[in-house]
Amino acid sequence: MDFKIAVLPGDGIGPEISVCGVEVMTAVCEKYGHKVEYRHAICGADAIDKVGNPFPEETYQTCLWADAVLFSAVGDPKFDNNPNAKIRPEQGLLAMRKQLGLYANIRPVETFDCLLHHSPLRREIVEGADFVCIRELTGGMYFGEKLEGNDRAYDTNAYTREEVERILHTAYGYARRRRKHLTVVDKANVLASSRLWRKVAQEIAPAYPDVETDYMYVDNAAMRMIQDPRFFDVMVTENTFGDILTDEGSVISGSMGLLPSASTGEKTPVFEPIHGSWPQAKGKNIANPLAQILSVAMLFEYFDLLDEGRLIREAVNASLDANVRTPEIQIPDGPAYGTKEVGEWITDYIRRHA
Ligand code: IPM
Ligand code: MN
Repeated sequence: MDFKIAVLPGDGIGPEISVCGVEVMTAVCEKYGHKVEYRHAICGADAIDKVGNPFPEETYQTCLWADAVLFSAVGDPKFDNNPNAKIRPEQGLLAMRKQLGLYANIRPVETFDCLLHHSPLRREIVEGADFVCIRELTGGMYFGEKLEGNDRAYDTNAYTREEVERILHTAYGYARRRRKHLTVVDKANVLASSRLWRKVAQEIAPAYPDVETDYMYVDNAAMRMIQDPRFFDVMVTENTFGDILTDEGSVISGSMGLLPSASTGEKTPVFEPIHGSWPQAKGKNIANPLAQILSVAMLFEYFDLLDEGRLIREAVNASLDANVRTPEIQIPDGPAYGTKEVGEWITDYIRRHA
């Protein structure tokens, strides 16, 4: 297939890990005879500095041109502690999600055997944990009506039936291809929006008799995730709950630098790490490129190019086994590898194998 890829490196460690993702993409395309063309575009704080807009029209057009977006990270500390900033890098990410209609955010939580000791949870709890969180991404409090006054402020957690239905169908699709267990996470004991979620879910569930559906309050789900993560196969939840639960989920695997995600919906899909821009590490060549590289695997898998995805996963596992790791997951006294070196090792592995 011919790929047109929009590359959005963004801020902080984004540009460094982006290079690794692009190199891996190129190597896999060469190996399997796919043509690939890249166009780079600006976003986040970088775009605010350059053109005063964190998701400029030109970047949006580049995304529309592309078959897929390879996104890295946005965010800069100069905005974080300034509640008065009118324009923020994160708005660029939200604008991208909204304008591309990316209502489904797929966040797999997987463990790597050789890294289990890095998890803050005991090995016997996390071993074999493997679930996917399907986070609704274009509704809820992130996009509902807001008031930001001096003495009063609110964010509205609004959902329509249609928004709930389409994300549930996406989630059932994943559950059907996995272990056929879907957990609908909400706060229906308190929130009206959650009661709509639950009502719609109960209406849809009979259409998927092969999938076991259960319902769980979000507070309980947060607890269950660290007590018994293997309970979960696919979970589906609204935007804000999904944001929080997936950060929690990322810890299970031992490092935030390991988990990729896909955002899909109406227009061009976006593939990105779930971690942020880690500004303190910018330019230091210490950030883990694996989440970005695994998001390239998700990109191929989205287009049903499963061998391509498998080769990337195999290369990542081989790098871990060979102790070719960035500092935060390296074994004591293990060799020192930076972002760039890990990326190059993996690209090289791909070139040598098929
Ligand atoms: C994420 C991030 C974003 C979110 C921020 C950067 C706006 O935390 O992708 O999880 O809250 O959705
Ligand atoms: Mn988040």
